[in-house]
Amino acid sequence: MNHIVFTRDANATLRSKLEHIPASDIFVLVDNNSRNYCMEHLNMGYVPGEHVITIAEGEHNKCLDNVALIWHQLSSCGARRNAVLVNIGGGVITDIGGFAAACFKRGIRFLNVPTTLLAQVDASLGGKTGINFDGLKNDIGTFSLPEWVIIDNHFLETLPPRQILSGFAEMLKHALLSGEKHLAEIMATDLSQVAQEDFLPLIQESVAVKSAIVTEDPNEKGLRKALNLGHTVGHAIESIAIKKGLEIYHGDAVTYGLIAELYLSVKKMGFDPKYYETVKAFIREKYPVYHPVGEPDGLYELMLYDKKNEHEGANFTLLSRPGEVEINQYCRREEILEALEQI
Ligand SMILES: NC(=O)c1ccc[n+]([C@@H]2O[C@H](COP(=O)([O-])OP(=O)(O)OC[C@H]3O[C@@H](n4cnc5c(N)ncnc54)[C@H](O)[C@@H]3O)[C@@H](O)[C@H]2O)c1
Repeated sequence: MNHIVFTRDANATLRSKLEHIPASDIFVLVDNNSRNYCMEHLNMGYVPGEHVITIAEGEHNKCLDNVALIWHQLSSCGARRNAVLVNIGGGVITDIGGFAAACFKRGIRFLNVPTTLLAQVDASLGGKTGINFDGLKNDIGTFSLPEWVIIDNHFLETLPPRQILSGFAEMLKHALLSGEKHLAEIMATDLSQVAQEDFLPLIQESVAVKSAIVTEDPNEKGLRKALNLGHTVGHAIESIAIKKGLEIYHGDAVTYGLIAELYLSVKKMGFDPKYYETVKAFIREKYPVYHPVGEPDGLYELMLYDKKNEHEGANFTLLSRPGEVEINQYCRREEILEALEQI
């Protein structure tokens, strides 16, 4: 996974990657926000207007109808097998754009220009593409790598603070997977600086954690499950919230999951309680207080049916120390319920 460029001039980088591609083969996918806030910085006047495909913003638009819309616009503009789709936006755009590109004419090339913190450190990398289907998140998709990922943190200037916090939860997770040094660095971060040049190396470090894991296990046979830290509980919280029509940010759910799963790590893996308390206090200070979305037993049931489970019981990624990951840890109902009480 080495086709990632970190830049403070996304315009010039994108131009150079598209240099030898005729304008008639270049297509762009954006949502309303990335079109308004980000595309204007990219001087893409060389792309014909009808080649810019715009979908509405938001998770519910990561759907099959919009995939059809993208395919329809590609077809009606005469896109050929050597067309290139440039996905400019957050994780919704890079997920759906990657998926649409992976299937169109059995696969055309695509580039990701992630414009949210979450997409820069996580969603745009690693080749997972997909859409939500029949009420299930990311239920249809492919593993398909983008040709290039162009990461420029200037784009984060216009990103609302709640969205920055959401992405930062994944940076915290990467730091826990990486080790004490990176964890200390991340916990000392000033998030008001996220769009500044000095912040780019932190994004780069976070990306390196995910890249190393994904390179070793691209198809999630083993080690890639490390990236699931905080997500077994986090996804269950998110799923119930979504079903009940409650608004919840992915990053908030992940941080609640991190509290519960680090507690399990203390109980089962000998994770240092000092680190657990430090990370928990950090999360409490930065993120909203958790309001239970449902009964703990309801959350537990959802964890049992997580698509990452291969055996009976709920499968967790835990830590024995920052940077030392233990995948495929099955926990009992009583242990999980106790962990949920800590959030
Ligand atoms: N494929 C993967 O490996 C992977 C990993 C993690 C998450 N994801 C997916 O990513 C999605 C979440 O990504 P997200 O948090 O980026 O959500 P998102 O794409 O919905 O973006 C969040 C909001 O920010 C807006 N926005 C984007 N860039 C902006 C900018 N620069 N300035 C102002 N507003 C901007 C968007 O229009 C949207 O309203 C989920 O669908 C999730 O499933 C995928």
